Amino acid sequence: MSKFEEIINRKGSSSVKWDLTKTVFGRDDVLPMWVADMDFLPPQNVLDALQDRLKHGIFGYTFVGDDTAASIKEWLQKRHGWEIEKTWLQYSPGVVPAISTVIQALTVPGDKVLVQSPVYTPFFSLVEDNDREIVNAQLDYDDGSYSIDFSAFEESLKSGVKLFLLCNPHNPSGRVWRKDELMKIAELCHRYNVVIVSDEIHSDLVYETHTHIPLASLHDSFRDITITCIAPSKTFNLAGLQASAMITPNPDLREKIAAIHKKQGFFTLNTFGIVGMEAAYRFGGAWLEEILTYLQENVRVTKEFIGEHLPELQLVDPEGTYLLWIDCTKMELSDEELKERLLDKGKLALEPGPKYGPGGEGFVRMNIACPRETLMDGLERLRKALG
Ligand SMILES: Cc1ncc(COP(=O)(O)O)c(C=O)c1O
Repeated sequence: MSKFEEIINRKGSSSVKWDLTKTVFGRDDVLPMWVADMDFLPPQNVLDALQDRLKHGIFGYTFVGDDTAASIKEWLQKRHGWEIEKTWLQYSPGVVPAISTVIQALTVPGDKVLVQSPVYTPFFSLVEDNDREIVNAQLDYDDGSYSIDFSAFEESLKSGVKLFLLCNPHNPSGRVWRKDELMKIAELCHRYNVVIVSDEIHSDLVYETHTHIPLASLHDSFRDITITCIAPSKTFNLAGLQASAMITPNPDLREKIAAIHKKQGFFTLNTFGIVGMEAAYRFGGAWLEEILTYLQENVRVTKEFIGEHLPELQLVDPEGTYLLWIDCTKMELSDEELKERLLDKGKLALEPGPKYGPGGEGFVRMNIACPRETLMDGLERLRKALG
C-alpha cells in the first residue's frame, strides 16, 4: 500500500480546509476538497528535522541563515535549471504577503496592476485592499483549454500598468506556461516597463510532458524586471509553517522590498518554517517524485470518472497543480444552483468558480491532493450532486 493511501483525521487540528467548512459553507457535514493543501504527511526527512529542532527546546530569535539559502539555490538549480545568487533571496511568511509587499514597494495608490482571470482570488483582493486598480486581461478559453490573448494583454500593458501578477503554473486552469508564451509575456512587459511578479508557488507540481520554466531564467533583461515567489508549502504540504522566498535579482527592486519589510517591522521567519523549508528543499526530491506519480494517477482516475459518469462536465486537463478546474457550463445551472446542489445533494465543498473572477462562472475547483479513497468518495458526491 502506498503511504499516500493513509487517511489521517485532520478534524480538530485547526485546519482551514477541514475545520472551517461551517464558517465558509454554512455546514460541517461536507467533504472538504477546497483549500489548496494536501491530506498527506510531508516527507519523513522534514518531520525528522522538525522533531530534532523541537527536541532542542529553545525557541529564541532565529534568522534565516546561509544553509537555508543554499538549499533553495540548489533546489532551483537541480529542479529547474535556474542559477540564482543567494543575495537575491528575501523571505516572507507566505507568497500572499510577499505579493502585497511588492505591490506596496513598487506601486502607489491608484496605480494599475494587471492580472489574468480566472486567477487565484488574492490577486484581486491584494490589489484592491492596497487601493491599486485592477486591469484584467482575461485568458481565452476554448473547449477545455486556456491560452493568452496577446493582443488584449498588450492593450492592457499600454493602458499604463505598473505591475503584472503572473501565475505560473496557473491556478485554477492548471496551465504550465510554455517557453514561447513566457518569452512573449516578458518581452511585452519589458517593452512597456512593467515589473512582473511571477508567482511560482506551484512550480514543482508539474505533470509528465510539461516543464516548468522560471520566467526570470529566460534572459538577463527579464531577470531584472522580475520578482519570483516560491515556497515549499504546496510542494511539500507545509503551508502552516508559513515560509516562502522571493527571488529578486535587481538590487534596486530588492532595496524597495527591503524598505517595506522594514516599515512592517518584518525581520525573520518562524523557527520551524526555516527548519522545514531547508529540510524540504535539501531532502524532499525523492518524495516529490512519489507524490507526483500519486497525484497524476488521481488526475487520471478523476478524468475517467467524469468521462464515464458526468458527461456534461468537462475537466480542464491539468498540466500542473493538484487543483482541478471543472467546466460545468453545459449544465446551464446558475452558480448559486451549482453551489446548492454540491452542498445539499452531494455534501461536497468545492471552490466556486466565480471566486476566480471573470471567466470563472459555471466552473468549480476541486482539490485532489488526498488519498484515493477520499477522492472516490468526493467523486461519488460529485455524481450525486450533478449527475
Ligand atoms: C497561486 C497561489 N499563490 C499563493 C498561494 C498561497 O500562498 P501562501 O500560503 O504562501 O501565502 C496559493 C495557494 O493556494 C496559490 O494558489
